[in-house]
Amino acid sequence: MKILILGSGGREHALAWKLSQSNILQQLFVAPGNAGTSKLGKNIPIGVNDFEAIKEFVLSNGVNMVIVGPEDPLVNGVHDFFLMNEELKKIPVIGPQKHAATLEGSKEFAKEFMMRHNIPTAQYKSFTATTIDEAYSFMETLHPPYVLKADGLAAGKGVVILNNIEDAKIELQSMLLDQKFGVASKTVVIEEFLDGIELSVFVLTDGENYKLLPTAKDYKRIGEGDTGLNTGGMGAISPVPFADNVLMTQIEEQIVKPTVEGLKIDGLPYKGFIFIGLIKVGEKAKVIEYNVRLGDPETEVVIPRIKNDLVSVFQAVANQSLNELDLQIDERTATTVMTVSGGYPGNYEKEKEISGIDAIEDSLVFHAGTKLIGEKVVTNGGRVIAITSYGDNFKEALKTSYKNVSKLSFEGMNFREDIGFDL
Ligand code: AMP
Ligand code: GLY
Repeated sequence: MKILILGSGGREHALAWKLSQSNILQQLFVAPGNAGTSKLGKNIPIGVNDFEAIKEFVLSNGVNMVIVGPEDPLVNGVHDFFLMNEELKKIPVIGPQKHAATLEGSKEFAKEFMMRHNIPTAQYKSFTATTIDEAYSFMETLHPPYVLKADGLAAGKGVVILNNIEDAKIELQSMLLDQKFGVASKTVVIEEFLDGIELSVFVLTDGENYKLLPTAKDYKRIGEGDTGLNTGGMGAISPVPFADNVLMTQIEEQIVKPTVEGLKIDGLPYKGFIFIGLIKVGEKAKVIEYNVRLGDPETEVVIPRIKNDLVSVFQAVANQSLNELDLQIDERTATTVMTVSGGYPGNYEKEKEISGIDAIEDSLVFHAGTKLIGEKVVTNGGRVIAITSYGDNFKEALKTSYKNVSKLSFEGMNFREDIGFDL
């Protein structure tokens, strides 16, 4: 098998790390990849949305399978692009087609899907510029805090939660009338605030069958104690200690099964990962969002806990035979701590030399935003390197992650010292 991974983050490095352990793998390509993936396969300087260049590369290099990391190319229809092309249509793509990817690409679409299939979620209504007065009236019926969500993709910044109704109205104006998030906020979903603890469930489906992957919890805020701005994720833990059998049964019966069935009923072919963001309110989980891909940094703790050959797992997705696969999960806990550039998630500088990578022992090093300049590994993004460790419990695993984070250094390096603080 020759496999091409699309993406360049820690998620893609973790996938590359796992795929490269397979005997079935002949050659691995990552487009565009990072310094970490260049050690496991060949980095190709092609952007994830450059479908013509991807086609050209796949055909001239005999690639047999494409694995899509981020949501962007999925929402833009990379899978459909393959299916519509005579030469490409037999090459499996792991990731849903465009219509199903709208589950992440449009919050309104996702909410309507959940309503139609009776999947527990926050009460909501959606509004546009012409219905802004109705939106104000709807807000008056809600209790604070107020949750406003730009309908479309807004690079993880499209959700705003405000305590004060006047502030919420001003924010709504800037989203709907001033297009704060461009076309992404032409429609805004306003929803009930759910008070509880978050967790994520990952599902792999071939469109007919599904497998539940390990649960994970990430830490999105930049500051300790979950304060400050949202980031892509500062650390993660798998499994989630409070996701016991009772909760997991409710999630599987009321959320996972109706989601996979709903996709079938709605005629939305889906071969890929479904990342379900949940909030546990009281004893029950409700859905806050769907993503049509794996999470980052959740992948850095979920993938290391899967014992199967990942190429075989993806082949089963492609052949629609996931029901025959026996998924084996490592009992240990995995934790990851993300090191980030100074200033992130605001402005930050790049190309800072990273030292200490070679000194890391007993942890996995997943590069997120790095590149090579000659032999030197330098920073190339807000999130730089994730350090993943195993342990008998999350505290043990975190000890190892933090011991190794302390060996890394680059100018401005920052990380959260309190991953798991709320567990
Ligand atoms: P999303 O982009 O939908 O994941 O939202 C980003 C974050 O906003 C989530 O991870 C939650 O922390 C928070 N959030 C979203 N929707 C709600 C809600 N209805 N109630 C409380 N918090 C929410
Ligand atoms: N860590 C959150 C995400 O990947 O969306």
